[in-house]
Amino acid sequence: MFEHISVNQNLIEMEYAVRGKISQRAAELEQEGQITIACNIGNPQALGQKPITFYRQVLSLLEYPNSITRERELSRHLNTLELSVDSYSDTVLNYAEDMLEKMKTGTGAYTESKGPLFIREAIAEFIDKRDDSDAGSGNGSDPESIFLTNGASDAARRILEILISDKSDGIMIPIPQYPLYSATIKRCGGTQVNYFLDEDSDWSVTSEILSESYDNAEKSEINIKAIVVINPGNPTGSILDEESIGLILDFAEKHDLAIIADEVYQDNLYGGSFTSFAKERGTRNILLFSLHSTSKGFHGECGHRGGYVEIRSNPEVNKSGIKLMDIFLKQASVSLCSNTIGQCLTYMMATPPEKGTNAFALYASEKTSILTDLEEKASMIIAAFKKMEGVKCFGRTGAMYLFPRIDHIPEGTNDFDYCMALLEETGLCTVNGEGFGQREGTNHLRIAFLPPITQLQEVLPQWIAFHNDYISA
Ligand SMILES: Cc1ncc(COP(=O)(O)O)c(C=O)c1O
Repeated sequence: MFEHISVNQNLIEMEYAVRGKISQRAAELEQEGQITIACNIGNPQALGQKPITFYRQVLSLLEYPNSITRERELSRHLNTLELSVDSYSDTVLNYAEDMLEKMKTGTGAYTESKGPLFIREAIAEFIDKRDDSDAGSGNGSDPESIFLTNGASDAARRILEILISDKSDGIMIPIPQYPLYSATIKRCGGTQVNYFLDEDSDWSVTSEILSESYDNAEKSEINIKAIVVINPGNPTGSILDEESIGLILDFAEKHDLAIIADEVYQDNLYGGSFTSFAKERGTRNILLFSLHSTSKGFHGECGHRGGYVEIRSNPEVNKSGIKLMDIFLKQASVSLCSNTIGQCLTYMMATPPEKGTNAFALYASEKTSILTDLEEKASMIIAAFKKMEGVKCFGRTGAMYLFPRIDHIPEGTNDFDYCMALLEETGLCTVNGEGFGQREGTNHLRIAFLPPITQLQEVLPQWIAFHNDYISA
């Protein structure tokens, strides 16, 4: 029997607070029969968000193609009998049939390592439509530069694994950040180089902030390879304007850095507007990785692990004659392919039902209802913060999170103690600011604004009471 085993030290040191001690305590409380509310993670369906009907109907047909014929027959009979029973529309049946034809081998076979070409073509079209770009003008999206992934987390891991050789390789990440980045840099053995977003200016970024971080790392002989940008931001919810994107592009160009643009919240804007890094980059020769996912937005299909990375620019690596995308392909081939259901969802995200079809109205109303609901929930929580002494929340409301600063934490305690006590008292499971990084001496927490409105109506007054009591202790 093994008594000891030596493992990769990086994995021992790696941390991921979103599922750290606070959520472990929440799991214990649940085991003891207490109700907790999982606001520690952006996992909408775990908090009651219903899946988009169109997605699930198509998926069910893809998984069991025989049901297409049966459903067609059924719907004909129902029409003859003039019965209105929930059934699959023509649009859904035709869509699934068309997909199966294009997939050729169904959902149970490995696909091309990059993902099937027809899905990559659909994604390229989706990107061009979103960015008002086209291949003819030189700034369009190329299906050959798109790789399907098991969610954006997988994309981030693949990119960092390729960029980082050892500890001297640095990756600039925003602080606060989504800890996928700090954890993956650690796991790959690289060095995390922080750039601190300016909280008082709504978590903005300036050239000075970027240069200061770069210069300090350079003095420590860190070779910075890339800069990570999360837009809209997690945990801050901030949305970058074109000017800020422009200055990050200038900075990357000046220092020969790749940009990793995590754009998984591009639909979570609540009145704000999204500009992609690909669009602002135009035809500039800057290496850009853009990440997207079916987990977020209004899709909320976290468990199905769909996503993609689009790579702009294809430099030669290590003066070997080999191109970056060849390495990407080799890396993808080792895992054979990303999961096929995630691929199918990514296709549906890129190619939703068209206006005028009989599936469109339901799809559009579910989409609007999810996004409106999220906005309302964010406003409810922001209104509650106003009743908590010393709680300030900066930034616009994007993504799925609020990241308030808690200014009056009692001496000798910190935001971890606060979040633990909040959990014990109210069942609300949040993540303390330290898990994302924060300026020394400040205290924050992140809450995902996902629980149902009725649950928020119940728990927010309890939180306000808890807070005002906690800080006066
Ligand atoms: C900024 C950001 N990137 C990536 C992810 C991971 O997404 P996925 O489920 O696609 O792996 C998350 C999940 O919360 C996220 O917030």
